[in-house]
Amino acid sequence: MSSLQLNFKSLKAGPFRCGSGPRRFPTKPGSVRCAAASPTRSYAITLLPGDGIGPEVISVAKNVLLLAGAIEGIEFNFHEMPVGGAALDLTGVPLPGETLSAAQQSDAVLLGAIGGYKWDNNEKHLKPETGLLQLREGLKVFANLRPATVLPQLVDASTLKKEVAEGVDLMVVRELTGGIYFGKPRGFSTNQNGEEIGLNTEVYSISEIDRIARVAFETARKRRGKLCSVDKANVLEASMLWRKRVMAIALEYPDVELTHMYVDNAAMQLVRNPKQFDTIVTNNIFGDILSDEASMITGSIGMLPSASLGEKAWTGPGLFEPIHGSAPDIAGQDKANPLATVLSAAMLLKYGLGEADAAERIEAAVLHTLDRGFRTGDIYSDGNKLVGCKEMGEEVLKAVDLNVAATV
Ligand code: IPM
Ligand code: MG
Repeated sequence: MSSLQLNFKSLKAGPFRCGSGPRRFPTKPGSVRCAAASPTRSYAITLLPGDGIGPEVISVAKNVLLLAGAIEGIEFNFHEMPVGGAALDLTGVPLPGETLSAAQQSDAVLLGAIGGYKWDNNEKHLKPETGLLQLREGLKVFANLRPATVLPQLVDASTLKKEVAEGVDLMVVRELTGGIYFGKPRGFSTNQNGEEIGLNTEVYSISEIDRIARVAFETARKRRGKLCSVDKANVLEASMLWRKRVMAIALEYPDVELTHMYVDNAAMQLVRNPKQFDTIVTNNIFGDILSDEASMITGSIGMLPSASLGEKAWTGPGLFEPIHGSAPDIAGQDKANPLATVLSAAMLLKYGLGEADAAERIEAAVLHTLDRGFRTGDIYSDGNKLVGCKEMGEEVLKAVDLNVAATV
């Protein structure tokens, strides 16, 4: 991983870094049942539960991190801050300055979800989503890794035929801090006929394309060595430059097989024959759409984690979040699937802190829990045991406790 031009680090001083002397875990009694090793490494983690099901899934992931950390000799200092609708209600803005600076000064950031009906009609600068975009921009996390893996245990949860879904294992590398999400000019105005218009700009510079292309080639190199760059170069200038630069960067990676696909075709190929894909690299908006599509191949968006990382030179933390939203329809009902957030915590350990062993312990625990038949509603199929968010969390904790051989 060290050659990846991403933000990997081990320890970093920050305001939450614990000093010497006795340390306290901010845990509920009983949530850490086994502390095999005395802590040797300590990390400051900003938790951003956000809205809807966010607090429920973050609470599960926090306990899983604590237990896996205790077993692996890692101590976490958690600092919980408001973001999104929760922050709007508390402070009047979706990303308070205190939240951003706490996040910037920590070793990694774990986010639940943002948004809800209550704030849907807010003006743009007062929307929860704006807080998330400001956070990504403020943390300079331009590379968003969204894996979509069909687990053998969940192949029946996919809406695709078993033979199509079985064995899918792909990674979408989405550019996250550029393109039409951030391009200027943007806004509302009137055209020459006096008619109201909404305006956004798809814009990419060479440096923005080059850095995400390198992350994608490095990612593909560590996987099956195949990279598909998705664009709309038959129509859009920003995509024409994208394709030209991806081809230029490809010269640095002769061992990676590069193909190009227009986004409409990619959307079709993803449901026709998803196994053809290994690593996909694409812009911000296409990545937003294709990663939701890819997630459904796996059966549930409730299973998929993501990692958002900055450049190696940038000393700020990575941002880790499930790719699902805040699901306000089931919020507070103990129905949410916490596994995407638990797997995001595993990505935090692996990509954000370089703690691969603890990450593998968590991934293995998730697989073991599924092997034992525990399912939340979104991934339930006949013959399994339907559980809520909390019980799923308890079962994962039990599995972390077991010395499950890391199989992923
Ligand atoms: C995602 C979400 C966000 C995005 C929204 C909530 C701003 O859909 O992370 O995919 O569009 O990036
Ligand atoms: Mg999305």
